Amino acid sequence: MKIAFGADHAGWEQKDALVRSVTAAGHEVVDCGTGGDDSVDYPDFAETVARTVAGGDADRGILVCGTGIGMSIAANKVAGIRAAKCNDPEEARLCREHNDANVLCLGARVVDPSVMTEMVTAFLETDFAGGRHQRRVGKMTALDA
Ligand code: RB5
Repeated sequence: MKIAFGADHAGWEQKDALVRSVTAAGHEVVDCGTGGDDSVDYPDFAETVARTVAGGDADRGILVCGTGIGMSIAANKVAGIRAAKCNDPEEARLCREHNDANVLCLGARVVDPSVMTEMVTAFLETDFAGGRHQRRVGKMTALDA
């Protein structure tokens, strides 16, 4: 799978650790930055990752900021994006199974790094369940128009 990653200054270290872990697991990565402690604006990185996923240049996106909240608000402004801010592996699994989320948003200041790795695994390995959930996802997609 091809995965676009983005982070701000609060999340770049965890983002880099996740990039190493998914690369080791055999995934292809598009790293959209940032890569250091200089203060940056999370909407810039959310937009780049969201447009990469919505445009078909990556299968999924993963965004890390302090809480994951700003990244999710910004990414969800891009048509075609279903970004889920999750706090544990069960939410990361369910956002795929029920919501067909294509971007996972993580909070480096609120989630333990080892839990974050489990969440990414759940997000990447869980398929959308379809069925009744497809109708609901279709209604969300209609809101993009
Ligand atoms: C940056 O200080 C912080 O506001 C940002 O990382 C994020 O938590 C926003 O939602």
